[in-house]
Order: sequence, then structure tokens, then C-alpha cells
Amino acid sequence: MKKFSIDIIVSFIFLAYFGVVQGDLNINDYGGKPNSDITEAFKKVWTEACASTSAVKIVIPSGNYRTNGIVAEGPCKAPIEVQVDGIFQAPSDINSMPKSDQWIRFGTMDHLTVSGNGVFDGQGAATWKQSSAAWSKNHNVNQKVSQNLGFYFVNNSIVTGITSKDSKNFHFMIYGCENITLDAVKISAPGDSTNTDGVHLGKSTDVKILNIDIATGDDCVSLGDGCRKVLVQNVKCGPGHGISVGSLGRFTQEDNVEGLIVKNCTISDTENGLRIKTWPAGPGTITITDMNFEDVTMVSVRNPIIIDQEYCPWNTCNKKVIITINFEDG
Ligand SMILES: *[C@@H]1O[C@H](CO)[C@@H](O)[C@H](O)[C@H]1NC(C)=O
Ligand SMILES: *[C@@H]1O[C@H](CO)[C@@H](O)[C@H](O)[C@H]1NC(C)=O
Ligand SMILES: *[C@@H]1O[C@H](CO)[C@@H](O)[C@H](O)[C@H]1NC(C)=O
Repeated sequence: MKKFSIDIIVSFIFLAYFGVVQGDLNINDYGGKPNSDITEAFKKVWTEACASTSAVKIVIPSGNYRTNGIVAEGPCKAPIEVQVDGIFQAPSDINSMPKSDQWIRFGTMDHLTVSGNGVFDGQGAATWKQSSAAWSKNHNVNQKVSQNLGFYFVNNSIVTGITSKDSKNFHFMIYGCENITLDAVKISAPGDSTNTDGVHLGKSTDVKILNIDIATGDDCVSLGDGCRKVLVQNVKCGPGHGISVGSLGRFTQEDNVEGLIVKNCTISDTENGLRIKTWPAGPGTITITDMNFEDVTMVSVRNPIIIDQEYCPWNTCNKKVIITINFEDG
């Protein structure tokens, strides 16, 4: 109670002193000008937005902006919207980026909105080349991961309008989130780009992936362990590797996957359509329940429906012991 009233007094003083509190926070006013590196400007504007006790919007107007990496962490005091109308460009050389799984990462937030018609351009071409060269040599991608956008422990949030383009690795990584919606975003990378999954989910509940065109080089949507209540609707996938559950069962501590609905989707020019893959000889039992696929159109798909309980690429496991999987309700 005491803390609350202090906040109110502080914001009244702030209001009285500066006159405005309601207006949007424009990154240009924090030193983040088009055709420049906006990493520091973003840090400043995020710090101010995160401390705001009323809902606040950060605006990135149209223009090209460079950044090697952004980490936007909460918890914050009130809902934040980040409206991106500009084009964010990553360096094409992955070695000039900080060691981080994501190029742009939002973490530990409640009520985040990312909107606008902006583009996150991961400039992945050089990295795909290196990855596939390393891969064909020893089936090992011995380099840093740089997914375009990460949402870690972000609840009650919406991502809409923006485009993720030419990510060096996965486009969207959603991990540990509860009630998050990706609506009408665009995802694009060439069909032969390496490891560019469209949306990967891990340990998240109540996720909606709606109205998205995904053209990429790996799975359009993939679900890792611990995902519950996932809806994939009105999604076009292709080129890419289809919609995938797994791979699962490779490690000891994996959580069950339950409640997937894939509805009114078109999958075209892909390697797989709908796939569930688990590793053999897994150390534990994992249950995959309540998988629903309805109204899915497939055009030029090599393996339309594929359930692979012996997923064991490049003989990296013991195929003799088969993990127990219970398929129920579909
Ligand atoms: C998100 O929701 C989970 C489950 O209700 C909760 O444990 C966690 O603290 C929430 N995180 C934030 C950042 O609000
Ligand atoms: C999920 O998040 C959205 C966006 O913040 C919100 O409008 C909605 O009420 C949330 N749903 C639940 C069940 O909390
Ligand atoms: C099915 O999805 C397509 C987009 O892929 C959309 O245009 C169409 O309106 C959807 N149909 C229904 C009944 O929601």
C-alpha cells in the first residue's frame, strides 16, 4: 500500500514537472536515428518504459536501424507495446554478435505487445552457408545460435504484424510462456536455408499461432516438450518442413505434450506435412496426448503424415530400445 502511494506521488511530480507522461516513447528521441546502431537507444527507452507505472508504447518509426543484439527484460510495472515500423538489420557476420541464443529477446514480461509492419532482418545467408558446410563435414553445427526473436517467460502477450526475415537460425523461439498469440506475422527465408524453423515452442501453455504465412528452410512450426493447449490456425506453410511435434524423448527431464489443434492450414512444397518424431532409447517416458489435425490441405508434400518413433538422425543413438509413447484421443 505504501509503495503504491509513493508511485502515485512520483508520477504526479513527474507529470507536473514534464507535463507529459501519456505520449509514446519514440526511439528517435533517445538517440536512435535511422541508419544508425540503436542498441544503446533501445536500452534507454526500454528502461524508461519498464519503469512506467501506466501502459506505455515504444515506437520505432520507419527507416533502417542496425543492432548486434537487444535484450529487453522485465518484470516491468505496466503493459508495454513495442510498435516497430522500421527495419532492424542484424550484422551478417554472426561473430560480431554477442553470445546469445537470440538476436532480439524479450524476457520475464506480462502484457507485452509487439506490433507494427516492421521487419527483423537476420541477414542469415552467410551463416546458413557455414552451418551447412559444418553439417556435411561432421553433422555438427559448431557455432553460436542466433535466432531472430525470442520470447522467454512472457505471459498474456501478443505479437502481430511484424515480419521475420532471413533469420540465421529459428525465426521465433517461444519458451516458458503462458497465453501468447502470434497473429498475422510473416516469416520468410529461402527453402534451402539451414535450421530456420518458423516458430519453435518449448514448455509453453496456451499458445495461438494464427493467420501466418511461413516460407522457410526448416519446420514451419515445431513443438518441443512441455507444450500444452496450442492452436495453429489459418497458417500457410511452404516451402519448409511442415508442422512438427518433436523431436521428443532424447533427454531425461522432458515434460509431456498435450492439446494441439491444427486447423484450416495449407502445407505446400514441403518435405513433410504433419510429423511427430521421438528418439528411440530415450531415458524416460513421454506422453503425447490430444493431437488434433483438421481441415489441412497438402499440395506437393513428400511425407504428408509421418509418425516416427525411431527418429535417430545420423545414427547418433541406440535404436534397440524403443521409448514408450501413448497416443490417446486422436
Ligand atoms: C507467468 O505465469 C506463470 C504461471 O502463472 C507465473 O508463474 C509467472 O510468474 C508469470 N511470469 C510473469 C513474468 O508474470
Ligand atoms: C491472454 O492475453 C491477452 C492479451 O494480453 C488478454 O487479453 C487475455 O485476457 C488473456 N487471457 C487470459 C485467459 O488471461
Ligand atoms: C482459412 O485460412 C485462410 C488463410 O490460409 C483464410 O484466408 C481463410 O479465411 C480461412 N478460413 C476460415 C474458415 O477461417
